Amino acid sequence: MSEQQTPGNNGNRQDEVTHFGFRNVPKSQKAGQVADVFHSVAGKYDLMNDLMSMGIHRLWKRFTIETSGVRTGNQVLDIAGGTGDLTMKFSDLVGPTGKVVLADINASMLEVGRSRLTDRGYAGNIEYVQADAEHLPFPDNQFNAVSIAFGLRNVTDKDQALRDMARVLKPGGKLMVLEFSKPTNSLLSKVYDEYSFRALPLMGKLIANDSESYKYLAESIRMHPDQETLKGMMEQAGLVNCRYYNMTGGIVALHVGTKP
Ligand SMILES: C[S@@+](CC[C@H](N)C(=O)[O-])C[C@H]1O[C@@H](n2cnc3c(N)ncnc32)[C@H](O)[C@@H]1O
Repeated sequence: MSEQQTPGNNGNRQDEVTHFGFRNVPKSQKAGQVADVFHSVAGKYDLMNDLMSMGIHRLWKRFTIETSGVRTGNQVLDIAGGTGDLTMKFSDLVGPTGKVVLADINASMLEVGRSRLTDRGYAGNIEYVQADAEHLPFPDNQFNAVSIAFGLRNVTDKDQALRDMARVLKPGGKLMVLEFSKPTNSLLSKVYDEYSFRALPLMGKLIANDSESYKYLAESIRMHPDQETLKGMMEQAGLVNCRYYNMTGGIVALHVGTKP
């Protein structure tokens, strides 16, 4: 069956639907629609991140790095690494004897990441790879740590991605999933809903001339598995000692699991 044929008539993956924000789309189309979002926002991505989170994303990322236990000489994969915030920090930690792979499915995001890191003098221990989290082009047992920050939400088959991230970890290695999650307090939840569904698309329109992508952001966050569900999915993927840390009242959570 060619890419152009309509889904629904051959009983394979293309028949199945998944969500793209609040809409149902054929599974075969989700990655393309996510790609359109990130091609569109790549140039303004870092500015929008700072504005939308009022800079707080830097604290969420700092906590992720501190929890990672990454050390000199380690091999780290930052998948869905985008413009490279975590990669930069990992690069400092692993030093010249280690290696960090900044991988992303999207060529535009990867290009913004590569020029940003090069401009800041990062070279030598960073590799750039275009890759899908569901099908990682790396051998088994390669990395001491794998991170995916604000990326898992966009992946079509999250269970497959978690299994593949576990596969490329060395035994004893840690998977860190930093992602939007479910606020633990109902009042915070209401305020957050107002902010996400009204303010975010408006900011997207004014700053990136793209309200639809930021509407997708708000919707995709609501569709993402909550803390306990994601923890269960990590266990199903074969990881042990799975746990999570809520941040900013559960708006964001860091999930950590270890490969046995
Ligand atoms: C919100 S950005 C996060 C970027 C960066 N990790 C950060 O925290 O700033 C999400 C990234 O996930 C990437 N992405 C989406 N689906 C992916 C997939 N299936 N495999 C790898 N990367 C993916 C997008 O291209 C985008 O760069």
